[in-house]
Amino acid sequence: MEALLQSIEKKVRPLIGQGKVADYIPALAQVDPNQFGIAIYSNDGALYQAGQADTEFSIQSISKVFSLTLAIKHYGEDMWQRVGREPSGNPFNSLVQLEYESGVPRNPFINAGALVISDMNQSRFAAPHYAMREFIRRLADNPNITSDKLVSDSEYEFRARNASMAYLMKAFGNFDNDVEAVLHNYFDNCAVRMNCIDLAKAFSFLANKGFSQHSNEQILSPRETTQVNGLLATSGLYDEAGNFAYRVGLPGKSGVGGGIIAIVPNQFSMCVWSPELNKSGNSLAGMAALEALSESIGWSVF
Ligand code: DON
Repeated sequence: MEALLQSIEKKVRPLIGQGKVADYIPALAQVDPNQFGIAIYSNDGALYQAGQADTEFSIQSISKVFSLTLAIKHYGEDMWQRVGREPSGNPFNSLVQLEYESGVPRNPFINAGALVISDMNQSRFAAPHYAMREFIRRLADNPNITSDKLVSDSEYEFRARNASMAYLMKAFGNFDNDVEAVLHNYFDNCAVRMNCIDLAKAFSFLANKGFSQHSNEQILSPRETTQVNGLLATSGLYDEAGNFAYRVGLPGKSGVGGGIIAIVPNQFSMCVWSPELNKSGNSLAGMAALEALSESIGWSVF
């Protein structure tokens, strides 16, 4: 497996230079674009890696999967009155559907949906970001995971779009807590730093019928696990979810830090990272690496 990962790294590294590092969050624009890492974790505990698999990066929207998991554990089916389960077909930070769909976001992974989920978690926890950080540390089996304050402060400073969505949802009665407080927690979660190994391990429960080996804990039921994987397959890559299904064929979630996690149900969880993004905000080399990997092993679930 590691020889395969190394050959994939060799194949996709030349793509670096064709994408663009996220710069709408100024602190993220500082990252060195010339980086690539990949890690795969199997349900029987084997870890395979290549490139800079132990270099930390900003997990950004990948954090939305952790937030959704925490919300499902507490709210169960009731949460779906406040957020939908359909692909949006629009960019992750688009506002247009929110008004004509009465403040109910299409799914939990676009920013508006993740903000509603953050609002739910804000109602449930006294210190939502710390609850989330403890949860992530447990899932990744790494007590040193932290959030980058420079990044979260930069996101807060340039929050106009996310703040607009949250206030619009408040106007529709779909937001319970103070908007600014929820934004702070949402950005703190997006600014969490992890490496490919941490993320592959942290999402192993999605490949393992909801069970996390490290925390020795049933995180979600087997049924909830298939449901989350279904949502990841249909909406995890935003307006590129169809392209990801076509090219990779696995449940996945991207972040503008350049990370993408993907799940091979009942077998593997993995993470690939390269900071340059394509036009939909997904890692350009990361997509190519997952496509090559899925193709060579025949992993598509479709
Ligand atoms: O709120 C934002 O815009 C960022 N914190 C997260 C966006 C993101 O990662 C989208 N994913 N590709």
